[in-house]
Amino acid sequence: MTSRLVAEASGGAARDERAVYDGMEMALHWTTALLVVTLYALSQIWSFLPRGTPVRLGLQWVHVSLGILLAAVLVTRIVWRLGPGRRVPPATTGLTEVAAQIVHYLLYALLLAVVVLGFCFRWAQQVPLTFFGLLAIPSPYPFAKEQAGAIGNLHWWMATTIIVVAGLHAAAALFHHFVLRDDVLLRMLPHRHARRVAAPGAEAREATGR
Ligand code: HEM
Ligand code: HEM
Repeated sequence: MTSRLVAEASGGAARDERAVYDGMEMALHWTTALLVVTLYALSQIWSFLPRGTPVRLGLQWVHVSLGILLAAVLVTRIVWRLGPGRRVPPATTGLTEVAAQIVHYLLYALLLAVVVLGFCFRWAQQVPLTFFGLLAIPSPYPFAKEQAGAIGNLHWWMATTIIVVAGLHAAAALFHHFVLRDDVLLRMLPHRHARRVAAPGAEAREATGR
């Protein structure tokens, strides 16, 4: 009903819902982005604090708890994407399409790697892996404390790479939106139709590319 009204109000140019990510995918995408940035920011903040201080340990405790949340969001996202989630057609063609696909798969792989390594890091530190102190996830493998350094190193590398790749990915999305003025970013944003209705003449501007 709403989309029909929107279509009428915008002269029949409401968005084609099949070419837009569904609400669940959008929610999971933006929650992932927020969590990744927060997790990285926490690690940068505690790096300025002396080792063993309550604030530093507290920030690490929050980092691990939010990390568990990220793991849950990631698993839900992958299940949703492979299962009931909407299959959207590629937003671009040719080489750009291939590059976008590679970056998306790389981001999924990096997310999985950083999460798995984060879990292993905590287990190797011999510190309980808890979600805000509520539940402790037991280690499936008897990690030795000496392994913590190497695992932590790998976790750091994956975390840093994810920030760089996600930064380029976000820059590409903003480039599409503000320079190429196409719909790539809007596919991941709700209420695109509302913006179109609210901005009379937007279609004419799009048609003339101005
Ligand atoms: C994209 C998500 C994540 C990012 C960007 C991230 C980033 C970082 C960074 C930069 C460090 C500092 C490493 C160092 O200085 O050696 C760190 C430490 C750590 N991370 Fe993550 N992390 C993420 C997810 C996770 C997850 C999912 C977990 C586990 C649930 C986790 C557990 C840990 C632990 C246990 C530490 C060590 C804290 C300490 O020194 O006691 N991280 N993380
Ligand atoms: C850490 C942060 C981020 C991560 C890990 C991430 C990850 C991803 C992944 C894996 C996809 C592919 C979705 C799929 O088709 O399965 C995606 C799509 C997308 N992301 Fe992000 N993203 C992040 C931040 C951002 C930011 C900040 C923006 C915008 C400024 C953005 C804009 C988009 C857009 C527009 C799409 C859809 C592209 C298309 O339709 O081809 N992302 N993101």
